[in-house]
This record gives sequence, C-alpha cells and structure tokens, in this order.
Amino acid sequence: MQRLTNKRIILGITGGIAAYKSAELTRLLKNAGADVRVVMTPASTEFITPLTLQALSGNTVHLHLLNAEAEAGMGHIELAKWADLVLIAPGSANFISRLAAGQGDDLLTTLCLATDAPICIAPAMNQAMWRDAGTQANTNLLTNRGIKLFGPGVGEQACGDNGPGRMLEPEEIANLTASQFNSGQLTGKTVFITAGPTREALDPVRYISNHSSGKMGYALAEAAIEAGAKVKLISGPVTLPAPERVKTVKVESAQEMLAASLQDLALCDIFIAAAAVADYRPTAVAEHKIKKGSEEIMELHLVKNPDIVATIANTEPKPFTIGFAAETQDVLNYARSKLERKNLDMIIANDVSRTDIGFNSDENTVTIVTDTSTETLPQTSKRKLAIQLINQIAIQYNKHDI
Ligand code: PMT
Repeated sequence: MQRLTNKRIILGITGGIAAYKSAELTRLLKNAGADVRVVMTPASTEFITPLTLQALSGNTVHLHLLNAEAEAGMGHIELAKWADLVLIAPGSANFISRLAAGQGDDLLTTLCLATDAPICIAPAMNQAMWRDAGTQANTNLLTNRGIKLFGPGVGEQACGDNGPGRMLEPEEIANLTASQFNSGQLTGKTVFITAGPTREALDPVRYISNHSSGKMGYALAEAAIEAGAKVKLISGPVTLPAPERVKTVKVESAQEMLAASLQDLALCDIFIAAAAVADYRPTAVAEHKIKKGSEEIMELHLVKNPDIVATIANTEPKPFTIGFAAETQDVLNYARSKLERKNLDMIIANDVSRTDIGFNSDENTVTIVTDTSTETLPQTSKRKLAIQLINQIAIQYNKHDI
C-alpha cells in the first residue's frame, strides 16, 4: 500500500455498530504511511470513543462544527482543503441521506460540501435499510456526483439478519483507498521533470537566483509516480525532501540542469519543465570572493544560458514536451508565444505577479495552453493542481501518441 505514503486522509466515522472497525482501519491507513485525521459524528461516539481514534491516528479528533477552539486550530474549511481524500467508514443510512440532500448540518457533512478532494463511502447498515428505495435513490445520487462507494459487503449482520449492508473489512477498505491514488494513466512511461531555481555563481559565496521553492515540480513528480510513471526529477537547490520512488538528481546551475536533462533522454517519454531557470549567468565566476571597491556602481557582465526546454523540444526523437510560463502581465499571450517559439506540445501559464500563488507558495492557479485549447484550473494546493495537471498531460500525451 505504498501509494498511501504522505497521503492526507480524513476518516469520517458515522453512527453504526461497524464503527468499532474504524479503529483497525485507522491503524492500517497509518501503517501504510497516511496522515489520518478523524472526524466523528455525535452518534458515532456512542459506539467508539474519540480517545481511541486520537491515540491511533496521533491527531486530535474533530467532533463539532461550531467549536471556537477547534476552528482556531484546524477549522472545517482548512480541514476540507487539507484532505487528499475523504473516507467515510462506516457510512450510515442517515449520513448518506443527509449528504445526498446536500445538507451541512454537522462537521462531517459540511466538510464534504466544502472539500474538492474525492469522497469515498463504505456503507454499513441493516440489509433492509440498504435495500430500501430511499437509500438506493440516495446512493445513486451520490455516485452520480462522483462519490465512490466501497461495498457494502453481503453476509451475516450484527442484528442477526443476512444480506447486503455489511461494512467491508478494514483491510479491503484500506486497499481500495490506496487504489484511488493510482490512475495508471502513465504506467510504463518515463517522465523527466525539472524543478526549483538555478543558481548562477558570481564568486565562491554569491550567486544569481530566484524565488522558486521547487514545490510545483516536486508535486508533479509525486503525481506522476502515482499515475504509474517512472520519474527522474532534476532539481535545483531547494529545501524539500526528495520524493519517494523518484530518481532525484540535484544540480545548481542551468548548464548542470541541461546536462542532467540530456542524460538518458532517449528513455524519456514526457519532459516537464517546471524549473525557474536563470536566463543569464555571469560571464565568468571569480575564483575568490569579489571585494568591495571604492566605486558606487558595479557592473556585472552576463551571458545567455542555454534554453533547456527548447533544447529538449528540438531533439529527435522529441519527447512530449511541456513548459511553464511564469508571467507578470499579458500572461496568455506570452505563454502562447513561448509554446510556439520553444516548439512545445503544451504550456502551463501562471501569473507570478501575485504573492499568494506562484513562486514559493503552497497554492497556484494555472491555465493549460495547447495549439488548440485553453483551460484554466482554479486556485488550489500545488499537490492537487499537480494531480490535475498530470491527468491533463496524460490525456494530451495519449492523443499525440496515437
Ligand atoms: O517552485 P515553486 O515555488 O513551486 O514555483 C513554481 C513556478 C512558479 C517556478 C512554476 O510554476 C513555473 O512557472 N516555472 C517556470 C518558471 C520560468 O522560468 O518560466 P519562464 O517563463 O521564464 O520559462 C518558460 C519555460 O522555459 C519554463 O518551462 C522554464 O523551465 C523553461 N526555461 C527557461 C529558461 C531556460 N534557460 N531554460 C528553460 O528550460
């Protein structure tokens, strides 16, 4: 269940006898590497204590919507944004009905309304309640809205009945949860990604660089791994940990980034240039620290760096090549001209004049531009954006590959 490493899972527990199994489910998700935050409905606390779930998840359990203390910590909107996936297990008939009606009358339903993460429900109820036309209509409504149902299973029930409505076993639910993170869209493909800034040395202690944190490129690497790809991440100097299962090559300058990008390029199916590469570097690197002189103005002489993504896009055979365009004005027009000038298959335009998105922030909003289409992805975390981008890249790649 490697796919759950570092995944942020909200486990919603509703009122039902199967709630006792949520303890084992929490343990399995944690053991698989997920960060689990538990949200309980009031009814569920009659079946299992918040303290048990707190001990197993290692996080405070969230219980109430209108709780000033909890909202001051991680409020419901923050929780909704935090999640990579919301898993409700057990999902009672009552909860399913309230969610189908679009209600937000407690923390869990409100969170489900507010999140843009996928929602999965493991229903658990008596077989007659499951077969009831109302429950069936509600579950149909939810699945039509894209909510996934895990089960229910069929068999003996706590009340002595036999039939459909049993919650799936925790191990099965944990496996199904893990499988939500692998689209398989890029299975068998090799993706190279550049990330972070480059540093162009002036002397042994100084350099020219920019504010790129590498967050966008690293999130893309993780999303590509989850889509089944082999990933080589060519990273400028950043403070982020190397993503698991990714071959990370650390570089400093644009020239080093180009050399690492060209290495084994024949293996590369898709090249994504998310790095903020310095366009120019000092013509010479001083051997010793440059001393302050008497002059008020100092002149630096710079020479153009190689354009990495354009070089890749002009090799034969050419990998499917995607660039980013970081612009502060006239974003789409500049992006379109870079798409053409650099011979790219796709360009992802972002407005870096805003301080809340783009460089060194956790969120971004981007516009995907191809020869024939323009699509804007609304502001969200770079993690979630990366998943959407990899999905779009895989779709365009497969079209182009035909
Ligand atoms: O790292 P983060 O803090 O998460 O921020 C993400 C980001 C803002 C850096 C990222 O989303 C982004 O926009 N990256 C590209 C930044 C950039 O340099 O854009 P550009 O418009 O100057 O370059 C266009 C494209 O050419 C880019 O794909 C760039 O990687 C590439 N390029 C540029 C110059 C060069 N010498 N070689 C290149 O490959």
